[in-house]
Amino acid sequence: MRFDKIIANGTVVNADKTQQADVAIRGEKIAAVGKNLAAKAKASGNGVQIINAKGCYVIPGGVDVHVHLALPFCGTTSSDDYDSGTKAAARGGVTTVIDFAIPYGKDTLQKAVVNWHAKSDGIACVDYAYHIAITNWQRQKQELPKMIDQGITTFKQFMIYAAEGWQSDDADMFQALEALKDLNGMLMVHAESSRVLDELIDRRHNPKDMKKYGAYLHTMTRPNFIEAEAIQRAVQWAEATGGKLYVVHMSTGDGADIIKNARDRGAKNVFAETCAQYLVLDDSLFAKKDGHLYATCPQLKKPSDQARLWKGIKRGEVCAISTDTCSFTRKQKAMWKGDWTKIPMGMPGLETLLPIVYTHGVLANRLSLKQFVDKCCYTPAKIMGLGHRKGAVKKGMDADIAIIHPKKKIKVDWRKMETNADWSPFQGWDLAGFSRTTLCRGNVIVDDYKFCGKNGWGQFLPRKSPGRI
Ligand code: URP
Ligand code: ZN
Ligand code: ZN
Repeated sequence: MRFDKIIANGTVVNADKTQQADVAIRGEKIAAVGKNLAAKAKASGNGVQIINAKGCYVIPGGVDVHVHLALPFCGTTSSDDYDSGTKAAARGGVTTVIDFAIPYGKDTLQKAVVNWHAKSDGIACVDYAYHIAITNWQRQKQELPKMIDQGITTFKQFMIYAAEGWQSDDADMFQALEALKDLNGMLMVHAESSRVLDELIDRRHNPKDMKKYGAYLHTMTRPNFIEAEAIQRAVQWAEATGGKLYVVHMSTGDGADIIKNARDRGAKNVFAETCAQYLVLDDSLFAKKDGHLYATCPQLKKPSDQARLWKGIKRGEVCAISTDTCSFTRKQKAMWKGDWTKIPMGMPGLETLLPIVYTHGVLANRLSLKQFVDKCCYTPAKIMGLGHRKGAVKKGMDADIAIIHPKKKIKVDWRKMETNADWSPFQGWDLAGFSRTTLCRGNVIVDDYKFCGKNGWGQFLPRKSPGRI
C-alpha cells in the first residue's frame, strides 16, 4: 500500500499498549502501525514523507471534552474563540475539542446549534463537536430527538447560574435523565448546590468583608459540601432513573468519594471528569495579588482534594481529564472591581492540558504513560461517542497524533502562546509534554512546537451515541 507519511522510530503509546513502532498514514487515516514501515517504504522508493520521532512518544491527539470558546458569560465573552482556541489546542497536542452550545433567552436548542456553527465552521483548526445545554426543560425537551439526529448526543444542565438564565432544577434533571435514557443520550451536570451557595454569598456580600477578603471570598463561600451535596443529588436521580450521568469539572475529593461509592454499589451509569487546574492549583492563590484571575467555577480547592482526585484518576472514578477552558483577559477579569461575584469565571487551559498532566502525572509518578493517554485521549473520546475514530493510534483511526519529547521542558509564557489570554495560570512553570509535532486527520498542524495549520481544517464531528466505557 502507498503511504503519504510515516512517523518513524517513535514509541507509540496507547491506553492499552506501548510499543516501538512506525505509524503509516494515508490521507486522513492511520493505515498501519508496525515495525520498519519507514525502511520498507523508503526501499520501495515511493516518496513518502518521513517524520522522525526518534526518542519521542507518539500518542493520540488529546481529546478535550469540556471547552467554552467565545462563550457569552458573566457579562462579557470568553476571549479564546475558534481561531485562537483551536490553535492553542493544536499547540498543546489536542486535536479534538467539544464545546457547549448554549441557548440564550428564549432561544431554541436549534438556534444555539446554528449560533455555534457560525462561530466554528470554517474557522476551527482542529476537529470539534458540541454538547448542548438545556436551559429550559419544558420549552426545549421536544427538541432532543432533533439534536441527536444532528449528531449531538450529550446534553448539559446547570444546577446554578440563575442569573445567566441557565439554571435547571431537580425535576428538570430527573426528567432529562429519563428522556435521555430512552433516546440513548447522556446528561452532563454542573453540580453545585445553588440555594445554600446563594445564602453563603449573601452573608459575605458586604463592603466590609469584600475589603477584608477580596477574591478569597470566592473560596470562603463555596465550601466542599456545595459541590458534594449537588453531586449526591444528581447521582440519586441517575440511580433512580437509570439515565447516564456525567459530572463535569469535579473539583472535590468529596465528589470523588460519592462517585466511587455509587459505582461500587453498581451505578455504572455514573461518570465524572476533573480538570487539569484542580489537580495542580489550590485555593491559596485567591489570597495572592491578582488572585481574582484564578476565579473559576467551581473554584480551586485544597491540596487534599488534588490528592484525592489524582487517586480517583488512577482508580477509575475519575474517567477523564478536561480543561473547562473559558479564557478571560486581564481587562475582562478587572470587571470585578473588588466584588468577587462579578469576576468573569474561567481560565485558559487547552494549550497546557497534556503538559500539565504529563509533567505532574507521569513525570511525578502519579500516572503511567498509558493512564495519561487513557485519561486525556482514549476514554474522553470513547465516552463521548468518538471512540471509533479518535483517541488511539491504531489502524483505521483518524491520523490525530501528538509527538512529545519525554523530558524536554518549556517554560510557560503566555506571550509565546496561541491563547489570546494575556496571563496564564501556569506562567513560569517548566512543563514537559508540549507537542513537538501535531497531526490532525493526517495534516501536520504543529511543527517544531509552532502552529502551522490553517483555519477551516477542523471538521464538525457528528456523533451517533454518547458511547460506552
Ligand atoms: O468558570 C467556568 N468554569 N466557566 C465556564 C462555565 C462552566 O461552569 O463550565
Ligand atoms: Zn459548569
Ligand atoms: Zn464549563
